[in-house]
Amino acid sequence: MSAPNKSYDPVEVEALKPDAIERMRTDALAAIAAAGDLEALTHVKTAHTGGGSPLALANREIGALPPQAKAEAGKRVGQARGAVNQALAARQAELEAERDARVLVEEAVDVTLPYDRRPAGARHPLTTLSERIEDIFTAMGYEVAEGPEVEAEWFNFDALNFPPDHPARETQDTFFVEGRGGSGESGVVLRTHTSPVQIRALLERELPVYVIAPGRVYRSDELDATHTPVFAQVELLAVDEGLTMADLKGTLDHMVVSLFGEGMTTRLRPNHFPFTEPSAEMDMLCYVCRGDSVGNPDRPCRTCSSEGWIELGGCGVVNPRVLTACGVDPEKYSGFAFGFGIERMLMFRHNVEDMRDIVEGDVRFTLPFGMEI
Ligand code: PHE
Repeated sequence: MSAPNKSYDPVEVEALKPDAIERMRTDALAAIAAAGDLEALTHVKTAHTGGGSPLALANREIGALPPQAKAEAGKRVGQARGAVNQALAARQAELEAERDARVLVEEAVDVTLPYDRRPAGARHPLTTLSERIEDIFTAMGYEVAEGPEVEAEWFNFDALNFPPDHPARETQDTFFVEGRGGSGESGVVLRTHTSPVQIRALLERELPVYVIAPGRVYRSDELDATHTPVFAQVELLAVDEGLTMADLKGTLDHMVVSLFGEGMTTRLRPNHFPFTEPSAEMDMLCYVCRGDSVGNPDRPCRTCSSEGWIELGGCGVVNPRVLTACGVDPEKYSGFAFGFGIERMLMFRHNVEDMRDIVEGDVRFTLPFGMEI
């Protein structure tokens, strides 16, 4: 082993001279103080403490010194590096605090401000149910027909074979817009049913006619849990050669199966309407108990009051007088028609207990029905 090189003068190692180290340290501290943001500080850190920084290079030189010179040079470089690291950490903390304070101001959210996102609302279940019924019939080749809500008395009553003194024409049932019920001259009414669309369809269309007509109708009732002065009906009319009551029954059965599922059926009870002959009231099997509650006190049914059937609406074979009023030969053509209220159907299909909930259109009522596509 060779003796230490006494003549080696550590002071001669340029990078380790005290003033060189001092310069490195003041340069680094100045750069740190000048770093305006965290990104700039990252660059300063690499430049002054990274592997290629003057202090790191100087540190490497220590290894080449004779042992007796190492300690002093090591201390000098170590103190300089320590001071630089400390300054870096302090500046870093300072800049982070500045950034946090700025973010708090810039990204502040005032939760008390009114917000402008408009809720999408909901389709009314009357609309979706009525469209569903339309779909059942358009799939069978029926067309959707429409008519005005403000209707000539002639369409609403006369052409439908209501005699001039029929009580339905009284103002306590009908809203007259012009003229007055039973006055003899034809007035203008808010239509009391969708049946005038039957007349319009027969006058406007080529035979055979197969139409389904949903729409709003008006009667002078008070709004309560089971009545509303404005409600929705669906009317169906089929006029063709050879149509009978049996076709009506089959059509009704198809509709209730489509709406309520397999096993559903309808029954007809004699009734009277001026525009159908024979006429019937149509009931559908109770979709909840399916008739099982009848005579069965152990299994009462609230939906049909244990009667097994639910009343739907009116129907019948189109009165030949109606066909004649529309210029259709009753010897050649016959037809059937039915009409029912959609609110009632909605009420028992979805257990809605109060008609007013349907009428008021509050989204808290309509939203839970969701969408039917
Ligand atoms: N228009 C009748 C009503 O409003 C219902 C009905 C339609 C009856 C078609 C027979 C045929 O009560």
